[in-house]
Formats: sequence, structure tokens, C-alpha cells
Amino acid sequence: KKRASLGEVERIFLPSTTVNNWDQIQKFRFKDDDLLICTYPKSGTTWIQEIVDMIEQKGDVEKCRRSVIHHRHPFIEWARSPQPTGVDQANAMPSPRILKTHLPTQLLPPSFWESTCKIIYVARNPKDCMVSYYHFQRMSQTLPEPGTWEDYFENFMNGKVSCGSWYDHVKGWWKAKDKRQILFLFYEDIKENPRREIQKVMKFMGKNLDETILDIIEQETSFEKMKENPMTNRSTVPKTIMDQSISPFMRKGIVGDWKNHFTVAQNEKFNNDYKKKMEGTSLTFRMEI
Ligand code: A3P
Repeated sequence: KKRASLGEVERIFLPSTTVNNWDQIQKFRFKDDDLLICTYPKSGTTWIQEIVDMIEQKGDVEKCRRSVIHHRHPFIEWARSPQPTGVDQANAMPSPRILKTHLPTQLLPPSFWESTCKIIYVARNPKDCMVSYYHFQRMSQTLPEPGTWEDYFENFMNGKVSCGSWYDHVKGWWKAKDKRQILFLFYEDIKENPRREIQKVMKFMGKNLDETILDIIEQETSFEKMKENPMTNRSTVPKTIMDQSISPFMRKGIVGDWKNHFTVAQNEKFNNDYKKKMEGTSLTFRMEI
């Protein structure tokens, strides 16, 4: 596999810091015992990270809280100075490593395809993902202003947002399932039955925890608990990066908030476009539960 060269589209839609760091990212070497957490932004990344960490720490809340906020799992394409880059952090970490990425499959470092590392992918229905991303972009001081909701709606459908097209991302990773060991989860399923999904993750990680520990994990990874927890609610992130007085990071945590944002006409337009873009894939989403 050749290294992915950055096309014009990616240059525009990847964070500029990642673009500057591209060579280092493409040379990154995955290891067979890595566990990679992968999502499109706003699909439940922080949630699955907390679930994975709580399983790893066998339900020990304190140990979990001690792990450093959003860099606890090195973020492969993180390149914002003055911190070490995501690749530097991953390279300095003892194995087995747990890593995180938002990269679409076509932009992964070639070593990914040569390794046998495990992957947990979490997908969220695009309507709620769009709404969540819009509010996130309003409060994020490092991403561009999202513009009006109407503009954002069009931009999201056209993949003109950071990390590119939601459609390409989910379809690419869904296809990768044929070649790689991927636990493909859905935000809506975790919301519907967290215990069942936590158990799937536990088995996939090769762990076996008893019911009392699973009780703790289920409680601690609930939206309410994670909204209060300074390690997961991003309250330690400076206002110059995230201004949570505009919109909190732990915003609503529900399925179906799109209904409070989409007009009837937008919904119709979205559904028609969605049908075209998702044609030919067996991947389906629940927009409500
Ligand atoms: P909303 O903006 O819809 O509330 P990410 O971590 O990928 O950036 O995703 C953030 C989204 O996941 C936010 O969605 C956030 O509220 C939601 N989320 C985080 N933890 C959650 C939890 N424990 N339960 C439900 N939703 C959660």
C-alpha cells in the first residue's frame, strides 16, 4: 500500500495542524497488539473511550480519572503544538496501546493494513451527528465558525466539515470490516442497551468482568455521570479552545435531537440525498429509538 498523499479535499477539510504533520502520521507504525478506537467526530468517541478505559481498569473509577483527559489514548492525527504530537505520544507508550483516530480509511498510514490490531468503530446516525457537530463547532475556538444552521446543513451533506464526509467515513470503515477485526458499534445501540454493548466491548477486549463491576461501569459511563466528571466533560480545557458557555461538550446525549433542528423540507432533502449516497451498502442507521 502506498502512503496516502493529501488531495485538495483533505487539505481543506482536515485540521491544518494534521496537514502539517502528514509525513509523520503516514510513517506511523501500528502494532498487532494495539487497540484502535475509531469514530467520525461527534459519534460517541469520548463515551467509548470511557467504556474501554473502565473495562481496562476493571471498574476502578479513580484509576480511570487519573488518566489524562483527551490525550489518555494518543490521538494519531493530533499535531497541535506545544504538546508532543499524537504519533510521538503513541511511540512513547508501552504496549499494549489503546489509540484513537478520526481518520477515514483512505487516509490511514499503510502500516495499519499490515498489522492485525483490533479496532472498535462507533458510528452515529448522521442527523444527530450533524446537530452535535454544529453545536460543537459553535463552541470550539479552533474549528471555523459553523455559520448558520442552514449553511451547516448543506456543508455537512457535502462533506465540507473537518474530517470530511460522514458518508465516506462510515462506508469506508464498514467495508474494512471484511478485512480487519472490527467491532462495529452504533451510538443508538449503546444508548438503548448500554449493558449489552459494554459486554460486547469487554469480550472483544478479551476480558471477563463480573456483574458487580459491570454495574459500576454502566453507571459511571452514563451521560449524567460523564457530564459531572471533570475527566470526561472537558471542563479542564481552556476557554480559548472550547467555550462551553456557548454549548457544553456533554450537550444532550440523546437520539433524535435532529427533530428539534431539521425543518420538514430539510428532512426531505436529507433523506433523498442520503438514499443516493448510501446506495449499495448494507450499512443502516436508526435515526430514533
Ligand atoms: P450531543 O452533542 O448530541 O449531546 P464525541 O465524543 O465523539 O465528540 O461525541 C460527543 C457526543 O456524544 C455529544 O453528543 C455527547 O453529549 C455525547 N455523549 C458523550 N458521552 C455520552 C454518554 N455517556 N451517553 C450519551 N451520549 C454521550
